Amino acid sequence: MEIVILDSTERIASAAADAVEQVLRTHETPVLGLATGSSPLPVYREIVRRHTEDGLSLAHARAFLLDEYVGLPHGHPESYREVIRRELTGLVDIPAASVQGPDGGADDVAAAGRRYDEAIHAAGGVDLQLLGIGSDGHIAFNEPGSSLASRTRLKTLTEQTRQDNARFFDHVDDVPYHVLTQGLGTIMEARHLVLVATGEGKAEAVAAMVEGPVSQVCPASVTQMHPHVSVLLDEAAASRL
Ligand code: GLP
Repeated sequence: MEIVILDSTERIASAAADAVEQVLRTHETPVLGLATGSSPLPVYREIVRRHTEDGLSLAHARAFLLDEYVGLPHGHPESYREVIRRELTGLVDIPAASVQGPDGGADDVAAAGRRYDEAIHAAGGVDLQLLGIGSDGHIAFNEPGSSLASRTRLKTLTEQTRQDNARFFDHVDDVPYHVLTQGLGTIMEARHLVLVATGEGKAEAVAAMVEGPVSQVCPASVTQMHPHVSVLLDEAAASRL
């Protein structure tokens, strides 16, 4: 695990964008794994800037989202599909058809999860997976207690995660209870994991991820077993290390 502590959100965004740019420039068909939440947003802004100002192209890339709410109507502004379109994929030259997310609106969500894992596999796997971390140590929507070998599947959100994500909705009651999320086993198959965390609120989860035991109690700790992980932190998020 490579831990990089940087002194500003901009530097973190730039370091993560460098890693993405390298994949885009060196792979014939780069496959990106995209995360939602607020932590990756500066990274996406930097990628959009490089696209607009420096001509960085994503036209040949494919992208897979980490997770999706179950039960939000198609096109809901807080569905992760819409968030990613608004913040990144709709602002660069990646074809819309090259961006896939778990189908949280499927009648058979379990089957949709299996199909999603197959689609990632058929694309040759993810070259670079961007990740944030939840304050309870979750990655994607793998809440504490998730199997370390899990695949894309239906999960129930903890109360803490629903409260954390309530800021994106009018009211906490509007936050869905269920999600379709890549499993920890799915995420671990990506060839490079780039995890971004900023702020004091993430310090405990980051310490458990990096220095704690590998355990379902902190799902992000499974990344200790991955051969190529970059953890990009500000001082506050690194303060309990
Ligand atoms: C959600 C997402 C995660 C993300 C987490 C933290 O739960 N499913 O992928 O890492 O939020 O989000 P934030 O970066 O806004 O703190």
